[in-house]
Amino acid sequence: MEKATIQCIDCGRAHSPGALYRCECGGLLEVVPNMEYLRENVSCGLFDSRLRLRNPPYGSGVWRFRELVHPFAGDEDIVSRPEGNTNLYRHKKVSSYTVIDDICLKHEGENPTGSFKDRGMTVGMSEAKRLGMKQVACASTGNTSASMAAYASMAGLKPIVFIPDGEIAFGKLSQALAYGAQVIQIKGNFDDAMSLVQESSNALGIYLLNSINPWRVEGQKSIMFELIQQFSWESPDWVIVPAGNLGNTSAFGKALFEMKELGFIEKIPKIAAIQATGANPFYSMWAKKAGELPAVQHPKTIATAIKIGNPVSWKKAMKAIKYTKGLVEEVTDQEIMDAKAMIDASGIGCEPASAASVAGAKKLREKGAIDKKDRVVCIITGNILKDPDATINYHLGRLEHIKSTYGNKPVVIEPNLGSVKKVLSISS
Ligand SMILES: Cc1ncc(COP(=O)(O)O)c(C=O)c1O
Ligand SMILES: [Zn+2]
Repeated sequence: MEKATIQCIDCGRAHSPGALYRCECGGLLEVVPNMEYLRENVSCGLFDSRLRLRNPPYGSGVWRFRELVHPFAGDEDIVSRPEGNTNLYRHKKVSSYTVIDDICLKHEGENPTGSFKDRGMTVGMSEAKRLGMKQVACASTGNTSASMAAYASMAGLKPIVFIPDGEIAFGKLSQALAYGAQVIQIKGNFDDAMSLVQESSNALGIYLLNSINPWRVEGQKSIMFELIQQFSWESPDWVIVPAGNLGNTSAFGKALFEMKELGFIEKIPKIAAIQATGANPFYSMWAKKAGELPAVQHPKTIATAIKIGNPVSWKKAMKAIKYTKGLVEEVTDQEIMDAKAMIDASGIGCEPASAASVAGAKKLREKGAIDKKDRVVCIITGNILKDPDATINYHLGRLEHIKSTYGNKPVVIEPNLGSVKKVLSISS
């Protein structure tokens, strides 16, 4: 019995597994699991029983769901740190900011290289190894390159990353360099880098590890599997996710579809995909009920991870939004940075793009789409240390067009006790 097949999302043609990302018709490919195989081989009980295992592969929050993320991978193929097993956080500051009682944050910044990208990367890199590839490449707003560089170097493959010149956060660039990637800076934006990496991979036989690669999406499904397992296989009402290239949105819809088909869940949570107003093609498409994505030529946002004008996975993502009866929303950079300040001041912390989820939750609550009593999960996609410049400049009031609503400036004093007392408002 075939455990899964690879199919074109546009014409439905089947493809054999290999280094291929698009169908002859130009459509994206996706992994289609064999539900009969899964029904016979997996259950919530099986995945629960693996929770106590700490060693690879099942100690990983991705490979715990092995049959659902890569049923062909042998133990010898798997490249894992391990990843996943990320925590859920609740905090009264976040509840009162969003006016949602039951809101929690799933912190994907706790993954080995500090972002959710490790979940897709472990599966994509394992596939690269299985196929015997020697070089891997990606275009990146930063986190994918950090993740790919680490996993490729672990596996002994050569990582090549294409990044937009001067547009990626320092934490991420430093990771890519340190993990040993060949970093190629493109004189252009992310969308230019994305086109060039596709052309170069095809021409030069390099394995492409962007989320156009169907195995990346398979790995990212594990965020949803793990989340629902953390809720004892009961769905929340909403899952809110920052949306850039739309890999996560696509993966979440696919994961929920598969869990529903397998009888793991009854209710399907609604997915809300949140874009930055300066990089909002998916939101525009949704708001205008358009049939095609209206690409944004010059995307602009402080949240560099989602500064994408022409996301590749929009068709898969729209399917996910429709399947879950979800929606798409946009938030301003001001809303993103204020939400980030709240997440940070709760001791949880995140990079700017991640805070789009909480900013989106607040906005959707204000608009009445989310009820005060709804159970809401916001996905925090990256670690606070990824973009220290954005954080510091917010608190020092140095960001253009953004007010430091919750700024926390350091104070400079003379080195004596009296000055300390003055700062702490202690009299005498
Ligand atoms: C921190 C962070 N948040 C959100 C996103 C957007 O995710 P997606 O491209 O899956 O929509 C990215 C992608 O680079 C990211 O790094
Ligand atoms: Zn096709």
